[in-house]
Amino acid sequence: MAILQVQQLTKNYGGSVPVEVLKKIDFTVESGEFVAIMGPSGSGKTTLLNVLGTLDAPTSGHFLLNGTDPQNYTKEQLAAFRRQELGFVFQNYNLLAPLTVKENILLPLTLDRYDLAAAEEKVTALMTELGLSALAAKRSYELSGGQAQRVSIARALIHEPRLILADEPTGNLDSKAAGDVLELLAQQNKNKQATILMVTHDPISASYAQRVIFIKDGLLYNELYLGADRREFYQNILTVLSQLGGRRHDFTQPHLA
Ligand SMILES: Nc1ncnc2c1ncn2[C@@H]1O[C@H](COP(=O)(O)OP(=O)(O)OP(=O)(O)O)[C@@H](O)[C@H]1O
Ligand SMILES: [Mg+2]
Repeated sequence: MAILQVQQLTKNYGGSVPVEVLKKIDFTVESGEFVAIMGPSGSGKTTLLNVLGTLDAPTSGHFLLNGTDPQNYTKEQLAAFRRQELGFVFQNYNLLAPLTVKENILLPLTLDRYDLAAAEEKVTALMTELGLSALAAKRSYELSGGQAQRVSIARALIHEPRLILADEPTGNLDSKAAGDVLELLAQQNKNKQATILMVTHDPISASYAQRVIFIKDGLLYNELYLGADRREFYQNILTVLSQLGGRRHDFTQPHLA
């Protein structure tokens, strides 16, 4: 079943120099898929995620999430939709510094006036599952980057969203921490059929997905599916990246270079 259907999606920015960022993009994501999005810097990856995350409106075209067009929602409905149906993971974690790890993970449920005892139970179970229990009382500045990102993923997962949108979730991490974060995402995808759309510059990160969509200059350039062999998938990703052009550092994190 398609969880996300993107149809002729276009996004322009006005301003002093108007830019056409997304140019009639079409693609579909099936429920339970783990899809990576790659493309040179400035190709529109973050813009695409922001539009799909309803943080920004498309200029034309639309997308259906679980069969519904969020553009039909009122502002209040949209805020609830975003909280309940989507999970966001950002490169810089976006944890709230005054709150503890547990409070950060609880936050989406608190905002939804979830029953406190039920919310506590849910958070405790998730922290145990993700190996975060020992960090419960810490604040974000007391965490390593990898820990902070795993906490932010827990926060994104707490509502069991239909779609997880991750924008370079491993962009600030060394290869060990990046591996932990990707394992966590891959596990949630495999064991809980979480649907994930992840932007990354890093071919190793992308090779954890089942499909990679490449965009260039706001257009779909190519897509690759994981076959029987993940190494071959990785090699194929490298090949498309080399065809895509762009500067080398656009696609490779320094620690993995
Ligand atoms: N709010 C905005 N107003 C005007 N132009 C914008 C805005 N946000 C992004 N852009 C432009 O849109 C284009 C795409 O930006 P976007 O952030 O989506 O790229 P990206 O693929 O995520 O790049 P990176 O890999 O560097 O993160 C760029 O040319 C950028 O300058
Ligand atoms: Mg970006």
